[in-house]
Amino acid sequence: MADIFERLVKNYGPIGEHRDRAHGYYAFPKLDGPIGSRMIFRGQEMVVWSLNNYLGLANHPEVRKIDADASAEYGLALPMGARMMSGNSNFHEQLESELAEYESKEDAILFNYGYQGIMSAIDAICGRHDVIVYDAESHACIIDGLRLHPGHRYVYKHNDIEDCEKQLQRATKLVEEQRSGGILVITEGVFGMAGDQGKLKEIAALKSKYEFRLMVDDAHGFGTLGKTGAGAGEEQHCQDAIDLYFSTFAKSMASIGAFMAGPRVIIDYIRYNIRSQIFAKSLPMPIVLGNLKRLDMLRTMPELKEKLWSNAIKLQAGLKERGFDIGKTDSPVTPVYMKGGVEEATAMVHDLRENYHIFCSIVVYPVIPKGHIIYRLIPTAAHTDADIQETLVAFSETKAKLDAGKYKVDEIPDMAEVTGKRFDYMLDKPRNK
Ligand SMILES: Cc1ncc(COP(=O)(O)O)c(C=O)c1O
Repeated sequence: MADIFERLVKNYGPIGEHRDRAHGYYAFPKLDGPIGSRMIFRGQEMVVWSLNNYLGLANHPEVRKIDADASAEYGLALPMGARMMSGNSNFHEQLESELAEYESKEDAILFNYGYQGIMSAIDAICGRHDVIVYDAESHACIIDGLRLHPGHRYVYKHNDIEDCEKQLQRATKLVEEQRSGGILVITEGVFGMAGDQGKLKEIAALKSKYEFRLMVDDAHGFGTLGKTGAGAGEEQHCQDAIDLYFSTFAKSMASIGAFMAGPRVIIDYIRYNIRSQIFAKSLPMPIVLGNLKRLDMLRTMPELKEKLWSNAIKLQAGLKERGFDIGKTDSPVTPVYMKGGVEEATAMVHDLRENYHIFCSIVVYPVIPKGHIIYRLIPTAAHTDADIQETLVAFSETKAKLDAGKYKVDEIPDMAEVTGKRFDYMLDKPRNK
């Protein structure tokens, strides 16, 4: 018989296998200091582009005050228990009704985390005869929701409406043959890697030909898109066609928790049947009060969204002017596509951090095909013109080095500990801040 543990330690997985060199630097880095556009990484100040703090609320004085005051008043224990048993409160219900109103829906339900919430909501609403049609680039939490689904699922090519229709035809045929079950289409408001919006309006238009319900994960659109910040549905003028609207509080609200909004009877069904909430302690009171305050700021401070977009446009236009490929983003998420291997990508990130003091995230194989690199930048309302300018210069200079083959190293630079090992590109004199 095989020992499970033995198998695990033989293969730590595609990222885990690099942990000896990567831990604490490329993976699990520690950013210190107050959350903002500049933070401390390994003792040096960096311009940070890795946080989904879109509206800059994380360190806003009003947010810090409500978080501190509510913690002092209620502590983190209250309310105890799952909401169904003993963990409900008027504030939880107030947040739900304010979220529903903001999203132009009848009702909303709070989740402790977005990941488990949407996963468990898919499980709660889909039976074994139901068919799920979903976008190929759906977030892991949607994919894990599908894993819980005992019925059929059909995937369509990312944002490909023709293929979506084809899968809807297959799904329709299946439910007709079964003589039971319905269809749920799941997509995202904004795809978090490439920054392109889900084609919600086109999917909604398919409702005139096919019978289905539409669930949208708008984690990145909530607070950043639409006239009032209500998200991708509002932006694309099809909010009514979204049957179940989901977002997390972890991005534009810089908090914890999530919600789903929709028709009252369905949200009530979810409330009484969602396992991840029924069998889990409810959100602590300071988090709920903090989220009420943040939601109020989303509604009443449009200048935050305006600043976010002004920074996003400056960053994206600057990158394009300098010849960078930023793909098809139509949100603040800013991917920068380059070519190179995993070792080269990490060497370039190393140079960006050590010599230019720019901190951004990279995406490499196996998340994307071999030979491709994505640098992912998240502009926020907290960034300044100086942050953007320094970053544009750093990207131009490091891209020139990448093209000249300067980052061609045999192995990922070992940054798990300071080993003193130096690579060619490090011979350039480090800039002093
Ligand atoms: C698209 C999307 N959905 C869901 C989640 C999960 O939300 P949470 O962090 O609240 O678990 C994330 C990431 O945070 C996300 O990017």
